Amino acid sequence: MCKTFDTGGQGLEVLKGVGLEVHAGELVAVMGASGVGKSTLLHLLGTLDRPTSGELRIAGTDVLNLNDQALSRFRNRHIGFVFQYHHLLPEFTALENALLPGLVAGTDLREAATGLLESVGLADRMDHRPGELSGGECQRVAMVRALVTRPSLVLADEPSGNLDEATSESLHELLADLARASGLAFVVMTHDRKLAQSMDRMGHIEAGMLQMEEAT
Ligand SMILES: Nc1ncnc2c1ncn2[C@@H]1O[C@H](COP(=O)(O)OP(=O)(O)O)[C@@H](O)[C@H]1O
Ligand SMILES: [Mg+2]
Repeated sequence: MCKTFDTGGQGLEVLKGVGLEVHAGELVAVMGASGVGKSTLLHLLGTLDRPTSGELRIAGTDVLNLNDQALSRFRNRHIGFVFQYHHLLPEFTALENALLPGLVAGTDLREAATGLLESVGLADRMDHRPGELSGGECQRVAMVRALVTRPSLVLADEPSGNLDEATSESLHELLADLARASGLAFVVMTHDRKLAQSMDRMGHIEAGMLQMEEAT
């Protein structure tokens, strides 16, 4: 895939030709310095933005040929996101936030949400609002929200960007464990080498190209 941003008449070519294949059950990290295009790639993979050219197939579906409505439905069902900041709704409890993807899809995810909240150690915090939770706890709720629909693909963009080192590390372990346990394709954009090395494969974006290497 390629992505050029139109910046007032001048094209900014951020991704020049990025090829990536991720299988179900596989955990992949994409590293790269700030500004190389990690978030841009995440938005393309997550169908939040369209590539300037290229193809994208997720769970067997040629997603770039879907119309906007079908694409929203597909995204809600098949793709989970964890961003740097949790984006939880402040007026809703942890459990209600985790149930939001189900509200959109019209499915009852209470059992899945409660189970996941328990598995991330928030069994007794389900009725708390984001303001009553720590940054790390909010990020764990965001992880649950990303996983609750049993998506095919989970995309994480610097998921612990706002957290201290110890909290990030435990969050990373939890995220990797959950991704492994659910057998989904997982892609994380990060500049944390330790997190990247805990994945099955890792790659680097440099000068608009993605170079994959084997994780050691
Ligand atoms: N919507 C946009 N319009 C124009 N330029 C953008 C847009 N989004 C990102 N960029 C530019 O694309 C480059 C890559 O950004 P980004 O993907 O956010 O990098 P990273 O996540 O690796 O830090 C940056 O130079 C950024 O300014
Ligand atoms: Mg970014």
